[in-house]
Amino acid sequence: MLMTARLALREMRDDDLDDLAGLLGDAAVMRYYPRPKTRAETLQWIRVNQARYRADGHGLWAMHLRDGGAFAGDCGLTIQRVDGVDELELGYHVPPGLQGAGLATEAAIACREHARTALGAARVIAIIHPDNLASQRVALKTGLELEKRTYGYGPGEQEVLIYAAAL
Ligand SMILES: CC(C)(COP(=O)(O)OP(=O)(O)OC[C@H]1O[C@@H](n2cnc3c(N)ncnc32)[C@H](O)[C@@H]1OP(=O)(O)O)[C@@H](O)C(=O)NCCC(=O)NCCS
Repeated sequence: MLMTARLALREMRDDDLDDLAGLLGDAAVMRYYPRPKTRAETLQWIRVNQARYRADGHGLWAMHLRDGGAFAGDCGLTIQRVDGVDELELGYHVPPGLQGAGLATEAAIACREHARTALGAARVIAIIHPDNLASQRVALKTGLELEKRTYGYGPGEQEVLIYAAAL
């Protein structure tokens, strides 16, 4: 469990399916992904993250507002292979109704610090669609800088930006 001023982050559970399916099934939230996830794909996604907790000790975590407990999206650390190297990636998704309040940045900073202190990581990255300006702002506010462009990550040989920070 990770705590910030406004957020509690914890491992995803099967009973998060309604909240996560609403988030990851939202066309606006998934605008920079190939398509929104179906409910079945979201359950699979929960299972992928649960396998990451067991294998790696981390993954994407579900987040809730500490005040009132509303579902506030996900944020966390996953291992992604970029240009032949395993990297620790910061990821984040916030429901449309809660965007613009600094929550993704607050969560991402907590995850960056967890990577540095608890995991002993030397570096974190974010893999971001070039048109996803909100995500790039979050990366910058979290202390990451644009490092390079690369291709072939994910479906369709999509060009992506790699933001990175040394820890
Ligand atoms: C990216 C995302 C998580 C940001 O969540 P958030 O809680 O609103 O983030 P924050 O409030 O911490 O910061 C957002 C920043 O982006 C800026 N922003 C938002 N929309 C923007 C846009 N269309 N163009 C430029 N900047 C934008 C905000 O102004 C803010 O920057 P500021 O503090 O300098 O004003 C949220 O937009 C989201 O869930 N998007 C869909 C999922 C996604 O793309 N995830 C990242 C995958 S790499």
